[in-house]
Amino acid sequence: MTYDGMEGRVQPTMNKQERLDINRAAWDAYQADYMRFNLMERPDFFERLESGDVMLDDEEVELAGDVAGLDLLDTSCASDAKQAFSWANLGARVTACDIAPTAIEIARENARHLGLDVKFHVADAQTLDPISDESQDLVYATHLGWLEDIELAVRTWARVLRPGGRLLIDMDHPVTNILEKSNEGLRVEWPYFDRSPETYEFTGTPLAKKHGGWDRSMPILWFHHTLADVFNTLVKTGLGIERVVERPYFPHAEFESSELPDAISILARKPVPTGPTI
Ligand SMILES: C[S@@+](CC[C@H](N)C(=O)[O-])C[C@H]1O[C@@H](n2cnc3c(N)ncnc32)[C@H](O)[C@@H]1O
Repeated sequence: MTYDGMEGRVQPTMNKQERLDINRAAWDAYQADYMRFNLMERPDFFERLESGDVMLDDEEVELAGDVAGLDLLDTSCASDAKQAFSWANLGARVTACDIAPTAIEIARENARHLGLDVKFHVADAQTLDPISDESQDLVYATHLGWLEDIELAVRTWARVLRPGGRLLIDMDHPVTNILEKSNEGLRVEWPYFDRSPETYEFTGTPLAKKHGGWDRSMPILWFHHTLADVFNTLVKTGLGIERVVERPYFPHAEFESSELPDAISILARKPVPTGPTI
């Protein structure tokens, strides 16, 4: 492993596979505690989901529309899989993936506990090897910053979508995500146009910080994509953008403000091939 704790920039000798392995290791180590923090945040987690409750943002539900009977894929479900279970409660036939094997192990246990029929696979969201071509009606993708190659990812999501199927991206807003937010105010922490991978010591998600902190620290990488990167990738892949929603808050965000966007959701559609016109 070429990582030596250097903050900020990744070492030039590190290759793409090593970067993926670093992220998989950090996330895998965190998953059991992530589930524990989710239960601390929502002690009624299982009761709520068992009673058919939905743990998605209103904007996501509104953008997705009626998902009953649709084949829906969650590309990075994590151990709690609350979004995957929520889509199932809304009537979708859900498949959920995550790169961390421990996430899938715990998510499967949760599904058994809830009696929900969700299929789980360990898979990289960028390639989704276990998912067949044109098998999904809706692909739900979150937190694109964990994905180094969004062009590969979007091509993959288009591959698994049926013609006419839709992609729903919900991501940290690239403009405000580069800001450090503290009581003293806002500071630019990462140059907006710098696409080099950012390395840092992962000490858990904001949920961990809220519930006593994670007792470990692991190197991890974040891949900043600008708004133009995301939109141009969708355009280049031939997906038609249908709606975009910017939200003034994000669940568990350290920073809540109605003056700046904190998250952005994008709905895009895979075109239906049209035959030759006579
Ligand atoms: C903060 S969790 C959030 C998950 C959840 N979808 C949400 O939005 O709250 C991020 C998840 O992405 C997963 N992840 C990171 N890189 C991934 C990749 N390349 N492919 C699939 N999952 C990945 C991690 O293992 C982790 O479970």
